[in-house]
Amino acid sequence: MTRRAAILGTGSSLPRTRVTNAELAQRVETSDEWIVERTGIHTRYIAAEDETTASLATDASVRAIEAAGLTPQDIDLIVLATATPDQTFPSSATKVQAALGIVDCVSFDVAAVCSGFLYAVSVAESMIRAGSATNALVIGSETFSRILDWDDRTTCVLFGDGAGAIVLGPAEDGRGVLATRLHADGRYNDLLYVDGGPSTTGTVGKLRMRGQEVFKHAVGKLAGVLSEVLGLAGLEPKDVDWVVPHQANARILDATARKLGLPAEKVVVTVDQHANTSAASVPLALDAAVRDGRIKSGDIVVLEAMGGGFTWGASVLRY
Ligand code: UT7
Repeated sequence: MTRRAAILGTGSSLPRTRVTNAELAQRVETSDEWIVERTGIHTRYIAAEDETTASLATDASVRAIEAAGLTPQDIDLIVLATATPDQTFPSSATKVQAALGIVDCVSFDVAAVCSGFLYAVSVAESMIRAGSATNALVIGSETFSRILDWDDRTTCVLFGDGAGAIVLGPAEDGRGVLATRLHADGRYNDLLYVDGGPSTTGTVGKLRMRGQEVFKHAVGKLAGVLSEVLGLAGLEPKDVDWVVPHQANARILDATARKLGLPAEKVVVTVDQHANTSAASVPLALDAAVRDGRIKSGDIVVLEAMGGGFTWGASVLRY
């Protein structure tokens, strides 16, 4: 049987502070009613000064490694997806590596914003299949609160902080990643971006988004890549047990599922509690559904995401 990369364990971590819509309404001209109706978001978690992308990633990783029944010394590859690294360099992945006490492994960040976790999974599973890695820690971790313009109500209510991690390792029992499809189209750079950077302004910058235009692209692109990846795996929507989508907006989740004829009960939703945590949202939702017993060994699970770039992608696996 083909050597595939399967999920051996999952973990996640959220900042200590939970912020409600009502609390945000004291800061900007918005309301709980508007946010819930337009996005499905009720709360989000916001990192304190001592909570960073690397520290949240480390906590999530410890849980994922423990769930896999491994120790940090078993990890030989770390791929961390983030758009909000602790520093421009070194990579946050190497910070996690140091915090876990791993002396030597391959360790790097990938930048594909909200699709970052899908890109990271694809890189790690390709390396495992090729035999150049054995047990990979794949992380999505973000502190988007640091790049939000807290006076811009059109964006600051939508995002939150957090981290999710998985351990991918070789499996020969039919479990594992069956197919992955990634896309990017840089013509849409200016619909969702940060207005700063080391090589341009020399500043970190703030997130800017033309939400309605992003929304229009999201549903079509996600439904398209889901069909593509199921086709590659020789599956149909009826074969899917769980969809674990990027959590940007409950209306996008509903519309995408409807377009594919997938029942809403099969879609894992955490956007109500976590808001949009960019690269962390898929592994955070995955860990929630694994730990509460919804996702079981042998289930067909689809991961999907779309975000800045634009980048988008989907992966189908037997859990
Ligand atoms: O993670 C990457 C992918 N990101 C996404 O997928 C995000 C996609 N976009 C969206 O989720 C939605 O477009 C938003 C949630 C961002 C916005 O929802 P919308 O239904 O597209 O609202 P809108 O932008 O058309 O704004 C409607 C109205 C506007 O007022 P007028 O011009 O109609 O008077 C906005 O100024 O709502 C106003 N508005 C707000 N009102 C209260 C915008 N933000 C707020 C707010 N509170 N926070």
